[in-house]
Amino acid sequence: MTTSKRSFRIAPSILSADFARLGEEVRAVEAAGADLIHFDVMDNHYVPNLTVGPMVCEAVRPHVKIPIDVHLMVRPVDRIVGDFARAGANIITFHPEASEHVDRTLALIREAGCKAGLVFNPATPLTWLDHVMDKLDMVLLMSVNPGFGGQKFIPATLPKLRAVRARIDAWQAAGGQEIRLEVDGGVKVDNIAEVAAAGADTFVAGSAVFSAPDADGGYRGVMGRLRAALGA
Ligand code: DX5
Ligand code: ZN
Repeated sequence: MTTSKRSFRIAPSILSADFARLGEEVRAVEAAGADLIHFDVMDNHYVPNLTVGPMVCEAVRPHVKIPIDVHLMVRPVDRIVGDFARAGANIITFHPEASEHVDRTLALIREAGCKAGLVFNPATPLTWLDHVMDKLDMVLLMSVNPGFGGQKFIPATLPKLRAVRARIDAWQAAGGQEIRLEVDGGVKVDNIAEVAAAGADTFVAGSAVFSAPDADGGYRGVMGRLRAALGA
């Protein structure tokens, strides 16, 4: 599939939002044209930072209509899946290294009524995809090491994106279900086009969106510039 035929989605990450005004923040990015709310869950165990859990997801849910994309950076994974599904998550992704039984966790997410995805750290090999393509709705490639917003995009993510794009296209050409390809970390106005050309269709943007200066049109301004860079 060519870049121009893919539909692009932008997912602002609440990690860079003002947590004291989270409802207002998610409403503002939805109004600015966000397609998803990216919800980063960190446990100070699998990653060296601690964020928010299902209670905050439930609190945010009524503020927006767009899907909530829950990125679990927690270990263990399985116990918290149902809690997030009940809290209104629409997509739940997790890191395969953090799950004892990857196939089971993917099934648990779908049984809970959510779309399921695997997340690959920069050094995590794509072999984790080998036997679970039929159980995936999303593949998320980390373009930074997980744990913090505002890090620099790791260029080795580009060939990795091309490799996953080829696998997904071959899978879908053979009649497989739709699988979205998301990228997370260091995505900005000046590199999003290159990231799209490498095969991503869903773009997490934390600091790029939530640190957008008011003088440049705030969230609406940066969302417009991201879309313009995508040619959408
Ligand atoms: C990092 C998180 C990202 C983070 C991205 O572990 O998974 O979602 O918010 O932030 P930026 O876009 O600032 O790199
Ligand atoms: Zn994330």
